[in-house]
Amino acid sequence: MDSILVRGGGKLSGQIPIAGAKNACLALMPATLLSDEPLTLTNAPRLSDIRTMTELLGSLGAEVTSLQEGKVLAMASHGPINTRAEYDIVRKMRASNLVLGPLLAREGHAEVSLPGGCAIGARPMDIHTDGLAKMGAQIDLRDGYLHAKADGGKLRGAVIDFPFASVGATENIMMAATLAKGTTVINNAAREPEIVDLADCLRAMGAQIDGDGTSTVTIQGVDRLHGATHRVVTDRIELGTYMLAPAICGGEVELLGGRIDLLEAFCEKLDAAGISVSETENGLSVTRREDQIRAVDVTTEPFPGFPTDLQAQMMALLCTADGTSVLEEKIFENRFMHAPELIRMGADIEVHGGTATVKGVAKLKGAPVMATDLRASVSLILAGMAAEGETTVSRVYHLDRGYEHVVTKLRGVGADIERIKS
Ligand code: EPZ
Repeated sequence: MDSILVRGGGKLSGQIPIAGAKNACLALMPATLLSDEPLTLTNAPRLSDIRTMTELLGSLGAEVTSLQEGKVLAMASHGPINTRAEYDIVRKMRASNLVLGPLLAREGHAEVSLPGGCAIGARPMDIHTDGLAKMGAQIDLRDGYLHAKADGGKLRGAVIDFPFASVGATENIMMAATLAKGTTVINNAAREPEIVDLADCLRAMGAQIDGDGTSTVTIQGVDRLHGATHRVVTDRIELGTYMLAPAICGGEVELLGGRIDLLEAFCEKLDAAGISVSETENGLSVTRREDQIRAVDVTTEPFPGFPTDLQAQMMALLCTADGTSVLEEKIFENRFMHAPELIRMGADIEVHGGTATVKGVAKLKGAPVMATDLRASVSLILAGMAAEGETTVSRVYHLDRGYEHVVTKLRGVGADIERIKS
Protein backbone atom coordinates (compact mmCIF):
# COMPACT_ATOMS: atom_id res chain seq x y z
CA MET A 1 0.00 0.00 0.00
CA ASP A 2 1.35 3.40 -1.01
CA SER A 3 1.99 6.17 1.49
CA ILE A 4 2.44 9.92 1.31
CA LEU A 5 5.57 11.56 2.73
CA VAL A 6 5.16 15.22 3.74
CA ARG A 7 7.87 17.51 5.11
CA GLY A 8 6.75 20.59 7.00
CA GLY A 9 7.72 23.57 4.95
CA GLY A 10 7.25 27.23 4.26
CA LYS A 11 4.50 29.37 2.83
CA LEU A 12 2.63 28.32 -0.29
CA SER A 13 1.99 30.25 -3.47
CA GLY A 14 0.49 29.50 -6.86
CA GLN A 15 -2.71 28.00 -8.28
CA ILE A 16 -4.64 24.76 -7.72
CA PRO A 17 -7.26 23.67 -10.31
CA ILE A 18 -10.46 22.29 -8.73
CA ALA A 19 -12.03 19.24 -10.38
CA GLY A 20 -15.66 18.24 -10.91
CA ALA A 21 -17.52 17.08 -7.81
CA LYS A 22 -17.17 13.41 -6.83
CA ASN A 23 -20.46 13.50 -4.95
CA ALA A 24 -22.28 15.06 -7.90
CA CYS A 25 -20.78 12.66 -10.42
CA LEU A 26 -21.68 9.60 -8.32
CA ALA A 27 -25.35 10.67 -8.43
CA LEU A 28 -25.29 11.76 -12.10
CA MET A 29 -23.87 8.49 -13.44
CA PRO A 30 -26.82 6.26 -12.36
CA ALA A 31 -29.14 8.71 -14.20
CA THR A 32 -28.05 6.99 -17.41
CA LEU A 33 -30.33 4.11 -16.38
CA LEU A 34 -33.36 6.43 -16.70
CA SER A 35 -33.09 6.66 -20.48
CA ASP A 36 -32.12 4.45 -23.42
CA GLU A 37 -30.49 7.47 -25.06
CA PRO A 38 -26.86 8.57 -24.46
CA LEU A 39 -26.00 10.66 -21.39
CA THR A 40 -22.57 12.35 -21.48
CA LEU A 41 -20.90 13.97 -18.46
CA THR A 42 -18.08 16.51 -18.89
CA ASN A 43 -15.70 17.86 -16.20
CA ALA A 44 -15.84 14.44 -14.52
CA PRO A 45 -13.21 13.85 -11.79
CA ARG A 46 -10.61 11.08 -12.22
CA LEU A 47 -11.13 9.05 -9.03
CA SER A 48 -11.31 5.43 -7.93
CA ASP A 49 -14.93 5.95 -6.79
CA ILE A 50 -15.85 6.92 -10.36
CA ARG A 51 -14.17 3.75 -11.60
CA THR A 52 -16.19 1.74 -9.04
CA MET A 53 -19.45 3.32 -10.25
CA THR A 54 -18.37 2.60 -13.84
CA GLU A 55 -17.84 -1.06 -12.90
CA LEU A 56 -21.24 -1.22 -11.18
CA LEU A 57 -23.13 0.36 -14.09
CA GLY A 58 -21.32 -1.98 -16.47
CA SER A 59 -22.54 -4.96 -14.43
CA LEU A 60 -26.10 -3.64 -14.88
CA GLY A 61 -25.76 -3.47 -18.65
CA ALA A 62 -24.99 0.24 -19.05
CA GLU A 63 -22.04 1.25 -21.24
CA VAL A 64 -19.70 3.83 -19.73
CA THR A 65 -16.84 5.01 -21.95
CA SER A 66 -14.15 7.17 -20.39
CA LEU A 67 -12.83 9.82 -22.80
CA GLN A 68 -10.28 12.65 -22.56
CA GLU A 69 -8.32 10.88 -19.79
CA GLY A 70 -11.50 10.40 -17.78
CA LYS A 71 -12.80 13.97 -17.90
CA VAL A 72 -15.66 12.89 -20.17
CA LEU A 73 -17.94 9.93 -19.41
CA ALA A 74 -20.01 8.85 -22.42
CA MET A 75 -22.79 6.57 -21.14
CA ALA A 76 -25.67 4.67 -22.70
CA SER A 77 -28.17 2.17 -21.29
CA HIS A 78 -29.84 0.71 -24.36
CA GLY A 79 -30.72 -2.46 -22.41
CA PRO A 80 -31.34 -5.19 -21.57
CA ILE A 81 -30.77 -3.98 -17.99
CA ASN A 82 -29.63 -6.37 -15.26
CA THR A 83 -31.42 -5.23 -12.09
CA ARG A 84 -29.13 -6.94 -9.54
CA ALA A 85 -26.36 -4.81 -7.98
CA GLU A 86 -23.92 -7.33 -6.54
CA TYR A 87 -22.49 -7.08 -3.00
CA ASP A 88 -18.86 -7.44 -4.13
CA ILE A 89 -19.12 -4.11 -5.97
CA VAL A 90 -21.62 -2.29 -3.73
CA ARG A 91 -19.58 -3.00 -0.56
CA LYS A 92 -16.72 -0.92 -2.00
CA MET A 93 -18.75 2.27 -2.11
CA ARG A 94 -21.97 3.33 -0.36
CA ALA A 95 -22.97 5.58 -3.26
CA SER A 96 -23.70 2.37 -5.20
CA ASN A 97 -27.10 2.55 -3.50
CA LEU A 98 -27.96 5.38 -5.93
CA VAL A 99 -28.84 2.81 -8.61
CA LEU A 100 -31.89 1.69 -6.59
CA GLY A 101 -34.22 4.54 -7.58
CA PRO A 102 -33.25 4.54 -11.29
CA LEU A 103 -33.55 0.73 -11.59
CA LEU A 104 -37.02 0.79 -10.00
CA ALA A 105 -38.08 3.64 -12.27
CA ARG A 106 -36.75 1.96 -15.42
CA GLU A 107 -37.52 -1.70 -14.83
CA GLY A 108 -40.11 -1.73 -12.02
CA HIS A 109 -37.92 -3.95 -9.85
CA ALA A 110 -34.39 -4.14 -8.44
CA GLU A 111 -32.17 -6.24 -6.15
CA VAL A 112 -29.53 -3.99 -4.62
CA SER A 113 -27.09 -5.20 -1.99
CA LEU A 114 -27.09 -3.16 1.21
CA PRO A 115 -23.73 -1.34 1.19
CA GLY A 116 -22.93 -2.28 4.76
CA GLY A 117 -21.50 0.17 7.25
CA CYS A 118 -18.33 2.15 6.75
CA ALA A 119 -15.72 3.69 9.00
CA ILE A 120 -17.71 6.84 9.72
CA GLY A 121 -21.02 5.22 10.62
CA ALA A 122 -23.72 2.58 10.16
CA ARG A 123 -25.26 4.56 7.28
CA PRO A 124 -28.65 2.81 7.01
CA MET A 125 -31.03 3.29 4.08
CA ASP A 126 -34.38 3.60 5.87
CA ILE A 127 -35.10 7.09 4.50
CA HIS A 128 -34.50 5.82 0.96
CA THR A 129 -36.70 2.71 1.37
CA ASP A 130 -39.51 4.42 3.32
CA GLY A 131 -39.75 7.02 0.56
CA LEU A 132 -39.83 4.44 -2.24
CA ALA A 133 -42.45 2.45 -0.30
CA LYS A 134 -44.66 5.57 -0.25
CA MET A 135 -44.31 5.53 -4.06
CA GLY A 136 -45.72 2.01 -4.20
CA ALA A 137 -42.56 -0.08 -4.00
CA GLN A 138 -42.63 -3.29 -1.99
CA ILE A 139 -39.15 -3.58 -0.45
CA ASP A 140 -37.89 -6.63 1.48
CA LEU A 141 -34.43 -7.15 2.97
CA ARG A 142 -33.29 -10.72 2.26
CA ASP A 143 -29.78 -12.21 2.33
CA GLY A 144 -28.24 -8.72 2.56
CA TYR A 145 -30.06 -7.45 -0.52
CA LEU A 146 -32.95 -5.01 -0.84
CA HIS A 147 -35.52 -6.74 -3.08
CA ALA A 148 -37.74 -3.97 -4.48
CA LYS A 149 -40.78 -4.24 -6.73
CA ALA A 150 -43.12 -1.45 -7.88
CA ASP A 151 -46.84 -2.24 -7.59
CA GLY A 152 -48.11 -2.87 -11.11
CA GLY A 153 -44.59 -2.41 -12.45
CA LYS A 154 -44.64 1.39 -12.14
CA LEU A 155 -43.96 3.77 -9.25
CA ARG A 156 -46.56 6.39 -8.43
CA GLY A 157 -46.09 9.95 -7.18
CA ALA A 158 -46.40 10.58 -3.43
CA VAL A 159 -45.86 13.23 -0.74
CA ILE A 160 -42.78 12.14 1.24
CA ASP A 161 -41.68 13.73 4.52
CA PHE A 162 -37.99 13.06 5.28
CA PRO A 163 -37.12 12.76 9.00
CA PHE A 164 -33.63 13.98 8.06
CA ALA A 165 -32.41 15.89 4.99
CA SER A 166 -30.57 12.87 3.56
CA VAL A 167 -28.50 13.67 0.45
CA GLY A 168 -28.58 10.17 -1.00
CA ALA A 169 -32.26 9.62 -0.27
CA THR A 170 -33.13 12.94 -1.94
CA GLU A 171 -31.16 11.85 -5.01
CA ASN A 172 -32.66 8.34 -5.13
CA ILE A 173 -36.25 9.56 -4.74
CA MET A 174 -35.78 12.44 -7.19
CA MET A 175 -34.49 10.06 -9.88
CA ALA A 176 -37.21 7.48 -9.17
CA ALA A 177 -39.93 10.16 -9.33
CA THR A 178 -38.94 11.43 -12.81
CA LEU A 179 -40.67 8.42 -14.43
CA ALA A 180 -43.36 7.78 -11.78
CA LYS A 181 -47.07 8.17 -12.53
CA GLY A 182 -48.11 11.54 -11.07
CA THR A 183 -46.44 14.11 -8.83
CA THR A 184 -43.95 13.51 -6.01
CA VAL A 185 -43.18 16.09 -3.32
CA ILE A 186 -40.16 15.63 -1.04
CA ASN A 187 -40.43 17.65 2.19
CA ASN A 188 -37.23 18.29 4.18
CA ALA A 189 -35.18 17.45 1.09
CA ALA A 190 -31.41 17.91 1.14
CA ARG A 191 -30.31 21.26 -0.36
CA GLU A 192 -26.69 20.47 -1.31
CA PRO A 193 -25.34 21.91 -4.61
CA GLU A 194 -24.97 18.31 -5.83
CA ILE A 195 -28.77 17.95 -5.59
CA VAL A 196 -29.23 21.04 -7.79
CA ASP A 197 -26.62 19.71 -10.23
CA LEU A 198 -28.49 16.39 -10.52
CA ALA A 199 -31.81 18.22 -11.02
CA ASP A 200 -30.22 20.36 -13.76
CA CYS A 201 -29.05 17.21 -15.53
CA LEU A 202 -32.43 15.47 -15.17
CA ARG A 203 -34.21 18.57 -16.53
CA ALA A 204 -31.84 18.52 -19.51
CA MET A 205 -33.07 14.92 -20.02
CA GLY A 206 -36.70 16.12 -20.03
CA ALA A 207 -37.62 15.69 -16.35
CA GLN A 208 -39.98 18.18 -14.67
CA ILE A 209 -38.41 19.19 -11.33
CA ASP A 210 -38.91 22.32 -9.21
CA GLY A 211 -37.62 23.48 -5.84
CA ASP A 212 -34.25 21.70 -5.93
CA GLY A 213 -31.87 23.55 -3.58
CA THR A 214 -34.77 24.26 -1.21
CA SER A 215 -36.31 21.94 1.40
CA THR A 216 -39.29 21.12 -0.85
CA VAL A 217 -38.65 19.43 -4.19
CA THR A 218 -41.55 18.70 -6.58
CA ILE A 219 -41.19 16.21 -9.44
CA GLN A 220 -43.89 15.73 -12.07
CA GLY A 221 -43.47 12.24 -13.59
CA VAL A 222 -43.10 11.98 -17.39
CA ASP A 223 -43.33 8.98 -19.73
CA ARG A 224 -39.71 8.91 -20.80
CA LEU A 225 -36.42 10.82 -20.60
CA HIS A 226 -34.09 11.55 -23.52
CA GLY A 227 -30.32 11.86 -23.69
CA ALA A 228 -28.30 14.92 -22.68
CA THR A 229 -24.81 16.29 -22.10
CA HIS A 230 -24.11 17.77 -18.66
CA ARG A 231 -21.07 19.44 -17.04
CA VAL A 232 -20.38 18.21 -13.51
CA VAL A 233 -20.43 21.03 -10.93
CA THR A 234 -17.19 22.09 -9.18
CA ASP A 235 -16.23 19.95 -6.18
CA ARG A 236 -16.89 22.17 -3.14
CA ILE A 237 -15.23 19.67 -0.77
CA GLU A 238 -12.01 19.50 -2.80
CA LEU A 239 -12.22 23.31 -2.99
CA GLY A 240 -12.58 23.72 0.77
CA THR A 241 -9.83 21.19 1.39
CA TYR A 242 -7.29 23.10 -0.71
CA MET A 243 -8.42 26.47 0.68
CA LEU A 244 -7.09 25.19 4.00
CA ALA A 245 -3.59 24.62 2.57
CA PRO A 246 -2.57 28.34 2.59
CA ALA A 247 -4.65 28.79 5.75
CA ILE A 248 -2.48 26.22 7.54
CA CYS A 249 0.87 26.94 5.86
CA GLY A 250 0.65 30.66 5.19
CA GLY A 251 1.17 32.31 1.81
CA GLU A 252 -1.46 32.85 -0.89
CA VAL A 253 -3.07 30.29 -3.22
CA GLU A 254 -5.63 30.75 -5.99
CA LEU A 255 -8.20 27.94 -6.38
CA LEU A 256 -9.15 27.83 -10.06
CA GLY A 257 -12.87 27.31 -10.60
CA GLY A 258 -13.68 27.98 -6.94
CA ARG A 259 -17.03 29.61 -6.13
CA ILE A 260 -17.95 31.21 -2.79
CA ASP A 261 -21.66 30.33 -3.16
CA LEU A 262 -20.75 26.64 -2.80
CA LEU A 263 -19.18 27.16 0.64
CA GLU A 264 -20.66 30.21 2.39
CA ALA A 265 -20.81 28.73 5.91
CA PHE A 266 -17.27 27.37 5.55
CA CYS A 267 -15.94 30.74 4.33
CA GLU A 268 -17.59 32.50 7.29
CA LYS A 269 -15.68 30.20 9.67
CA LEU A 270 -12.42 30.80 7.80
CA ASP A 271 -12.98 34.56 8.12
CA ALA A 272 -13.60 34.20 11.87
CA ALA A 273 -10.35 32.21 12.13
CA GLY A 274 -8.40 35.01 10.42
CA ILE A 275 -8.33 33.72 6.85
CA SER A 276 -9.14 36.02 3.92
CA VAL A 277 -11.04 34.66 0.93
CA SER A 278 -11.47 36.85 -2.13
CA GLU A 279 -13.04 36.21 -5.51
CA THR A 280 -10.73 36.47 -8.51
CA GLU A 281 -11.36 36.31 -12.25
CA ASN A 282 -10.56 32.58 -12.25
CA GLY A 283 -11.84 31.48 -8.84
CA LEU A 284 -10.94 32.20 -5.23
CA SER A 285 -7.77 33.48 -3.59
CA VAL A 286 -7.00 32.51 0.01
CA THR A 287 -4.44 34.00 2.40
CA ARG A 288 -3.88 34.16 6.15
CA ARG A 289 -4.31 37.63 7.63
CA GLU A 290 -2.18 37.16 10.74
CA ASP A 291 0.58 34.86 11.86
CA GLN A 292 -1.69 32.84 14.10
CA ILE A 293 -5.10 31.33 13.45
CA ARG A 294 -7.90 32.29 15.82
CA ALA A 295 -9.87 29.48 17.53
CA VAL A 296 -13.44 29.04 16.26
CA ASP A 297 -16.30 26.67 17.13
CA VAL A 298 -17.74 24.52 14.34
CA THR A 299 -20.95 22.47 14.13
CA THR A 300 -21.57 20.33 11.03
CA GLU A 301 -25.04 20.57 9.49
CA PRO A 302 -26.79 19.76 6.22
CA PHE A 303 -26.26 22.41 3.50
CA PRO A 304 -26.19 25.40 3.76
CA GLY A 305 -24.55 24.68 7.13
CA PHE A 306 -20.88 23.76 7.67
CA PRO A 307 -20.17 20.58 5.62
CA THR A 308 -19.36 17.41 7.54
CA ASP A 309 -16.95 16.53 4.71
CA LEU A 310 -14.73 19.49 5.74
CA GLN A 311 -14.78 18.84 9.50
CA ALA A 312 -11.59 16.75 9.59
CA GLN A 313 -9.70 19.28 7.48
CA MET A 314 -10.90 22.18 9.65
CA MET A 315 -9.72 20.32 12.75
CA ALA A 316 -6.22 20.17 11.24
CA LEU A 317 -6.27 23.97 10.95
CA LEU A 318 -7.52 24.51 14.50
CA CYS A 319 -4.82 22.29 16.07
CA THR A 320 -2.44 25.28 16.04
CA ALA A 321 -5.01 28.03 16.65
CA ASP A 322 -4.65 30.59 19.43
CA GLY A 323 -7.21 29.27 21.92
CA THR A 324 -9.69 26.42 22.25
CA SER A 325 -12.12 25.33 19.51
CA VAL A 326 -15.12 23.03 19.92
CA LEU A 327 -16.16 20.92 16.92
CA GLU A 328 -19.55 19.22 16.95
CA GLU A 329 -20.17 16.44 14.38
CA LYS A 330 -23.92 16.23 13.94
CA ILE A 331 -24.16 14.21 10.71
CA PHE A 332 -22.20 11.01 11.34
CA GLU A 333 -21.78 9.08 14.56
CA ASN A 334 -18.10 8.25 14.21
CA ARG A 335 -16.28 10.91 12.25
CA PHE A 336 -13.40 11.86 14.58
CA MET A 337 -11.01 9.01 13.68
CA HIS A 338 -8.47 11.59 12.49
CA ALA A 339 -8.25 12.95 16.07
CA PRO A 340 -6.02 10.16 17.51
CA GLU A 341 -3.73 10.52 14.48
CA LEU A 342 -3.47 14.30 14.95
CA ILE A 343 -2.74 13.67 18.66
CA ARG A 344 0.23 11.53 17.54
CA MET A 345 1.48 14.73 15.89
CA GLY A 346 1.23 16.63 19.18
CA ALA A 347 -2.30 18.02 18.90
CA ASP A 348 -4.29 18.54 22.10
CA ILE A 349 -7.74 17.11 21.34
CA GLU A 350 -10.36 15.56 23.61
CA VAL A 351 -13.23 13.64 22.02
CA HIS A 352 -16.47 12.99 23.91
CA GLY A 353 -19.15 11.41 21.70
CA GLY A 354 -19.93 13.84 18.90
CA THR A 355 -17.87 16.69 20.35
CA ALA A 356 -14.14 17.31 19.93
CA THR A 357 -12.39 20.03 21.99
CA VAL A 358 -9.18 21.24 20.34
CA LYS A 359 -6.73 23.27 22.42
CA GLY A 360 -4.30 25.06 20.11
CA VAL A 361 -0.60 24.17 20.40
CA ALA A 362 2.29 26.19 19.01
CA LYS A 363 3.34 23.65 16.36
CA LEU A 364 2.60 20.06 15.36
CA LYS A 365 5.42 17.56 14.97
CA GLY A 366 5.72 15.17 12.04
CA ALA A 367 4.96 11.50 12.76
CA PRO A 368 3.89 8.29 11.01
CA VAL A 369 0.05 8.37 10.88
CA MET A 370 -2.71 6.29 9.31
CA ALA A 371 -5.56 7.41 7.07
CA THR A 372 -8.87 5.97 8.29
CA ASP A 373 -11.31 7.44 5.78
CA LEU A 374 -11.37 9.68 2.76
CA ARG A 375 -11.50 13.10 4.43
CA ALA A 376 -9.34 12.13 7.42
CA SER A 377 -6.53 11.17 5.01
CA VAL A 378 -6.27 14.65 3.56
CA SER A 379 -6.57 16.36 6.96
CA LEU A 380 -3.39 14.48 8.02
CA ILE A 381 -1.59 15.68 4.89
CA LEU A 382 -2.60 19.28 5.61
CA ALA A 383 -1.37 18.92 9.20
CA GLY A 384 1.93 17.45 7.98
CA MET A 385 2.51 20.35 5.62
CA ALA A 386 2.83 22.77 8.57
CA ALA A 387 4.36 20.38 11.11
CA GLU A 388 8.02 20.26 12.14
CA GLY A 389 9.76 17.35 10.45
CA GLU A 390 8.40 14.46 8.40
CA THR A 391 4.91 12.93 8.36
CA THR A 392 4.16 9.66 6.61
CA VAL A 393 0.47 9.02 5.90
CA SER A 394 -0.28 5.33 5.24
CA ARG A 395 -3.35 3.69 3.62
CA VAL A 396 -3.65 6.41 0.99
CA TYR A 397 -6.08 4.30 -1.03
CA HIS A 398 -8.65 6.28 0.96
CA LEU A 399 -7.23 9.42 -0.64
CA ASP A 400 -7.50 8.08 -4.19
CA ARG A 401 -11.25 7.71 -3.72
CA GLY A 402 -11.85 11.44 -3.55
CA TYR A 403 -8.81 13.49 -4.57
CA GLU A 404 -7.24 13.36 -8.00
CA HIS A 405 -3.50 14.13 -8.31
CA VAL A 406 -3.24 15.46 -4.75
CA VAL A 407 0.59 15.31 -4.72
CA THR A 408 0.85 17.14 -8.05
CA LYS A 409 -1.63 19.81 -6.98
CA LEU A 410 0.09 20.50 -3.64
CA ARG A 411 3.64 20.31 -5.04
CA GLY A 412 2.46 22.87 -7.59
CA VAL A 413 2.09 25.47 -4.84
CA GLY A 414 5.32 24.60 -3.06
CA ALA A 415 4.46 21.79 -0.65
CA ASP A 416 7.26 19.29 0.06
CA ILE A 417 5.23 16.13 -0.59
CA GLU A 418 5.75 12.88 -2.46
CA ARG A 419 4.01 9.54 -2.93
CA ILE A 420 6.01 6.50 -1.81
CA LYS A 421 5.13 3.47 -3.89
CA SER A 422 5.20 0.21 -1.98
C1 EPZ B 1 -23.53 12.00 1.11
O1 EPZ B 1 -23.61 10.74 1.76
C2 EPZ B 1 -22.07 12.16 0.69
N1 EPZ B 1 -21.71 11.07 -0.22
C3 EPZ B 1 -21.17 12.12 1.93
O2 EPZ B 1 -19.84 12.36 1.50
C4 EPZ B 1 -21.60 13.27 2.84
O3 EPZ B 1 -20.82 13.23 4.02
C5 EPZ B 1 -23.09 13.11 3.21
O4 EPZ B 1 -23.88 13.08 1.99
C6 EPZ B 1 -23.59 14.26 4.08
O5 EPZ B 1 -23.40 15.47 3.42
C7 EPZ B 1 -22.10 11.15 -1.51
O6 EPZ B 1 -22.76 12.09 -1.94
C8 EPZ B 1 -21.67 10.03 -2.40
P1 EPZ B 1 -26.86 11.23 4.01
P2 EPZ B 1 -25.06 10.11 2.11
O7 EPZ B 1 -27.83 10.28 3.45
O8 EPZ B 1 -26.01 10.42 1.04
C9 EPZ B 1 -28.19 9.11 8.04
C10 EPZ B 1 -17.53 11.96 1.31
O9 EPZ B 1 -16.63 12.06 2.14
N2 EPZ B 1 -29.14 8.37 7.17
O10 EPZ B 1 -27.13 12.70 3.93
O11 EPZ B 1 -24.85 8.72 2.52
C11 EPZ B 1 -26.77 8.63 7.81
O12 EPZ B 1 -26.50 7.48 8.59
C12 EPZ B 1 -18.86 11.32 1.71
O13 EPZ B 1 -17.49 12.38 0.13
C13 EPZ B 1 -30.09 7.55 7.75
O14 EPZ B 1 -30.15 7.43 8.98
O15 EPZ B 1 -25.42 11.00 3.39
C14 EPZ B 1 -25.94 9.81 8.23
O16 EPZ B 1 -25.77 9.77 9.63
C15 EPZ B 1 -18.83 10.80 3.14
N3 EPZ B 1 -30.94 6.85 6.95
C16 EPZ B 1 -26.80 11.00 7.83
O17 EPZ B 1 -28.15 10.49 7.68
C17 EPZ B 1 -30.90 6.95 5.59
O18 EPZ B 1 -31.72 6.32 4.90
C18 EPZ B 1 -26.36 11.67 6.54
O19 EPZ B 1 -26.58 10.76 5.52
C19 EPZ B 1 -29.92 7.80 5.02
C20 EPZ B 1 -29.05 8.51 5.82
